Amino acid sequence: MAKLYLRENIQGAHINPELQGQFSEHLGRGIYEGLYVKEDSGIPNENGMRKDVVEALREIRVPLLRWPGGCFADEYHWKDGIGDKANRKKMINTNWGGVLEDNSFGTNEYFELCRQLGCKTYVNGNVGSGTVQEMSEWVEYMTFDGVSPLTELRKKNGHDSPWQLDYLGVGNENWGCGGNMTPEYYANLYRRYQTFCRQYHPDHPFKKICCGPNVDDTNWTRGVLSTCFQEPGGHANHGFMDLLSVHYYVLPGGWEHKSSATQFDAAVWYETMKKTLTAEDLIRLHGNILDTYDPEKKIGISFDEWGGWYEVEPGTNPGFLYQQNTMRDALLAGTTLNIFNRHCDRVKLACIAQMVNVLQSVILTEGERMVKTPTWHVFHMYQHHQDADLVPGDLLENEEVGTDENHVPALNISASKKDGVYTVTVADMDLAKSHPLEIRFTDFVPKAVKASIVTEEMCAKNTFDEPDCVTEKAFSGVTLTEHGAKLDVPPCAVLLLQFS
Ligand code: AHR
Repeated sequence: MAKLYLRENIQGAHINPELQGQFSEHLGRGIYEGLYVKEDSGIPNENGMRKDVVEALREIRVPLLRWPGGCFADEYHWKDGIGDKANRKKMINTNWGGVLEDNSFGTNEYFELCRQLGCKTYVNGNVGSGTVQEMSEWVEYMTFDGVSPLTELRKKNGHDSPWQLDYLGVGNENWGCGGNMTPEYYANLYRRYQTFCRQYHPDHPFKKICCGPNVDDTNWTRGVLSTCFQEPGGHANHGFMDLLSVHYYVLPGGWEHKSSATQFDAAVWYETMKKTLTAEDLIRLHGNILDTYDPEKKIGISFDEWGGWYEVEPGTNPGFLYQQNTMRDALLAGTTLNIFNRHCDRVKLACIAQMVNVLQSVILTEGERMVKTPTWHVFHMYQHHQDADLVPGDLLENEEVGTDENHVPALNISASKKDGVYTVTVADMDLAKSHPLEIRFTDFVPKAVKASIVTEEMCAKNTFDEPDCVTEKAFSGVTLTEHGAKLDVPPCAVLLLQFS
């Protein structure tokens, strides 16, 4: 029997709500159709934003939305996306399908969407093909409340008061699509660009995100940090950054032989699970390097692109990255969010890629129809961790399961405390059998438990015709004990337990 010993009497780090952040890029049907249908659409909308999608996203309390990319960010010129929509400059979206981008969703529309979602804002600036002046003026347009030509422009475009910018990304994947730079070259640009992104609200400064590594590229992490922390003529200002990004996608089969999103066998399942656990290795790997510059952990990891990447749905544009979502994605999401929780002393922000209709989405749309994916249901359960404090714990006697090539510990767990309620989330990667689990608190004696579960066979998915194949259901298999609880965790399942 697996045993989870919780040390609730030790103060754990705070779990930033931003660990459950989302990402939407100008890519395929992620923004256009998925979120934004324009004001004159027959699909019910508020200021162009789909009401059904916004409502579903509010149900999972999306804490933050990253925009406009991704690779698109380093080709995006924000001034093309403001003002009269009929006159906005069009562009080719060279990264994603070569389609025409009409720029009808721009800065004002992004902040309107965030207002409707009630979430924090994370705008990713253009270093790859943009200028320092362009990024500096974007910040001024968004956040300055004094008198200036750019604030006049914002007012002319219908927004008198500045918006609240919470995070600014200075470039995206500048080791690749963002300019194919060397770490030192990028880091010098980072130092320069961020200098001119002025903080107009010292009481609420936005946090600056420096472009970090791809997967396990420690050369990038070291090169960027050593350059940013150099002090040529003064104080290094803590590397000039608040966060360093990390990007990692789970790619069963690799780039050459991507897995189907919906048809896979147990071997591919366990390969996916094993690759999911790599996220924890990466946090440790890059976290250790960060520790040498920032032992007090003031700089957060912004794990702002993660998720499963599979073959696109047959018959769809390969450049649109539209893929279905199964129980495999539920396990991927549940496990990854558990990992982020357990490392919340360093991981301060994370974004699943991408929110609607792209890669591992929480929502899929087709015309006026919308479906909540298994991943949505996991986010729905995990929202109870937002703004809670981590409860440290040890999981012992956790059985290894899987295949010879890919075996993984069956259970993956995190726990937190908020307002006197202990939330424990459990992902069981085993496909074959249940795993008995005993949960023991150090002092706390639970008097009540509320539990729910997402479980189905591994390839189960929600479709537009059958939208409720995979949903969160009440779970009654938990027995309270003197020190905690006992249960049999069903195979291929994600569980939410709440003790009070
Ligand atoms: O999320 C899709 C793409 O993956 C992003 O545009 C890019 O940053 C990453 O390579």
